[in-house]
Amino acid sequence: MAMATSAAATAALSCLLRAGKRSCLPSARWGCLSSARLSSGVSSYGQRGSGARSLRGNYRELWERAAREPGPFWGALAREALLWDTPHHTDCEWDFAQGRVRWFLGGRLNVAVNCLDQHAQCSPDRVALIWEKDEPGTEERITYRELLEMTCRLANTLKKNGIKKGDRVALYMPVSPLAVAAMLACARIGAVHTVVFAGFSGESLAGRINDSECKAVITCNQGLRGGRVIELKKTVDEAVESCPSVKCVFVAQRTSNKIHLGSRDIPLEEEMAKEASVCAPEIMDSEDMLFMLYTSGSTGKPKGIVHTQAGYLLYSAFTHKHVFDYKQDDVFGCVADIGWITGHSYVVYGPLCNGGTTVLFESTPIYPDPGRYWETVQRLRINQFYCAPTALRLLLKYGDEYVKKYDRSSLTTLGSVGEPINHEAWQWFYDVVGEGRCTLVDTWWQTETGGICIAPRPSEKGAEIVPAIAMRPFYGITPVLMDENGKMIDGNDVSGALCIAKPWPGIARTIYGDHQRFIEAYFKAYPGYYFTGDGAHRTEEGYYQITGRMDDVLNISGHRLGTAEIEDVMDEHPAVPETAVIGYPHEIKGEAAFAFIVVRDDTPYPEMVTKEVRAIVASKIAKYAVPDHVLVVKRLPKTRSGKIMRRLLRRIVTGNVSDLGDITTLDDPSVITEIIDTYENYKAKNSTLK
Ligand code: PRX
Repeated sequence: MAMATSAAATAALSCLLRAGKRSCLPSARWGCLSSARLSSGVSSYGQRGSGARSLRGNYRELWERAAREPGPFWGALAREALLWDTPHHTDCEWDFAQGRVRWFLGGRLNVAVNCLDQHAQCSPDRVALIWEKDEPGTEERITYRELLEMTCRLANTLKKNGIKKGDRVALYMPVSPLAVAAMLACARIGAVHTVVFAGFSGESLAGRINDSECKAVITCNQGLRGGRVIELKKTVDEAVESCPSVKCVFVAQRTSNKIHLGSRDIPLEEEMAKEASVCAPEIMDSEDMLFMLYTSGSTGKPKGIVHTQAGYLLYSAFTHKHVFDYKQDDVFGCVADIGWITGHSYVVYGPLCNGGTTVLFESTPIYPDPGRYWETVQRLRINQFYCAPTALRLLLKYGDEYVKKYDRSSLTTLGSVGEPINHEAWQWFYDVVGEGRCTLVDTWWQTETGGICIAPRPSEKGAEIVPAIAMRPFYGITPVLMDENGKMIDGNDVSGALCIAKPWPGIARTIYGDHQRFIEAYFKAYPGYYFTGDGAHRTEEGYYQITGRMDDVLNISGHRLGTAEIEDVMDEHPAVPETAVIGYPHEIKGEAAFAFIVVRDDTPYPEMVTKEVRAIVASKIAKYAVPDHVLVVKRLPKTRSGKIMRRLLRRIVTGNVSDLGDITTLDDPSVITEIIDTYENYKAKNSTLK
């Protein structure tokens, strides 16, 4: 299917675009960027208030138009909101059966130019980044001009060391201006970054580097989080031992500790200082890869989700502006780590494309005390504050005083992301943090969607916000619910599998190196639709409420983990022939992992094995992946064909033993009482399971 831009659609978007008249026209030219686009360019934000107001009144009409004809809708926006070398000729081509989506075909641009140069030319001294370092009160501000120069020096350093267009570069860094510059330096020269969250183990890092065949790694000597030192370079050293593709490791200095540099290590800042502060941008096709980011699925190893240039950039910038009502000179505070998609879209690409000021939060919500977020809000005068429910659940336990002692009058919009937000946390965020006067948006989206897909805003002017639900599809997002037979469910007050019927610019394009897996994971279950993996309820009013994952993917503190991924590494223990990992509700983390393991009969100390398997998970995946409970059982409940019935284990742990469902396929029903007894004994000794 192909979509072409129509004049009518362009006209209909005029109110939307009025919000975006460029407040300053760039005068100079860079490289081969077209002067025509420069002089008629339109930025993606407008004067305080104007854009959001005109948009809100037209939400339904715009949503319907975008849903009917996504191509022309986004095509017109892309032309106006992004800075192009060559404008696109075809808005969109898509075929969900083949897992194929392409946006803005024929268009050529550079993402770093959109995020930096255009703003550095208009307002070089505007603050791009506020680096909220681990120690409170030591923040640093980086202007657009400084960030552009840092990015160019870093880009030239990469080029000098043989990194070129299409090469993959792994980033294993703390949240910092250099990390942002590294992402943008890759974008500038056409290299593909894959940021690996700096809490992952060496083995996880190696797996990602090898899967994407990275040529280089960028890291720091050490990291700092919550007052603790994190040995980043040591982990990278461990990882690259088994990564033959890595030719060099760039090492930045986050702390003053000197560390030994080996033959392939390059001191990053030293080398950057020798390079020029300008670097001609590589002009990229809209559909060239921008980055990949690994995320867990229900089976196999984490998958490298691929995002491309123009569509991702437009979608992250546009959602950033309209969901949060971001206006020029606002300070946007998204406290996510850049190792996750939230950090990519709403710390880096969205805000910077919009010429915004974005906060880089290096610390934790409880360092040095549970008032850290709100003290930061006061000190940096943050206007939009975006965080995860797990942090809110943790903080509300410490009481309101930690919030109330700081001035939060700068706040206008609050946002939540990553997992379902419970009513208590939503209400506390709204009443206590936001003093009942801020807009609070629960935003649903995924690594694969590139940006927010369902959120209470934008909406009709002044429309209600129902607590703790994501509510309204963003422009161009067409949610549908499916029943078990793959049929679309009509009407309201219904629940089903959440799918999306039509493409939007931010949708992932493939899984790196395995397009077939991409098709299987997202387009097979409901032919003709993108399947999110989540279930949802459509309320009587027609709003969407996400009910959680429908597959074997856990969401621990807002981070995805496949149960199979944990089981696979636990099974590596020689005394453990079998494991089954399930998720259960957890007060703070939202969900936690519970592992049932079978230990060989001849194992002298089964208790030791439970400790060892935990250590294996920490070293092979990450500390946050370690199950909260590891229980040794004699055997697991299996069907006659040998499939583990995890559903039964889940019901035992959640106390639903009176309703075990259909157990006719169970090989030996006596296993149930056996496991219940073992579990009850364990629970009696474990206060955390009450
Ligand atoms: O299950 C949904 C949950 O997080 C999953 C996506 O995880 P990830 O790709 O790591 O991206 C997280 C940050 C965008 C989804 O499939 N999820 C995300 N946001 C929400 C949510 N569940 C309920 N409500 C949300 N607002």
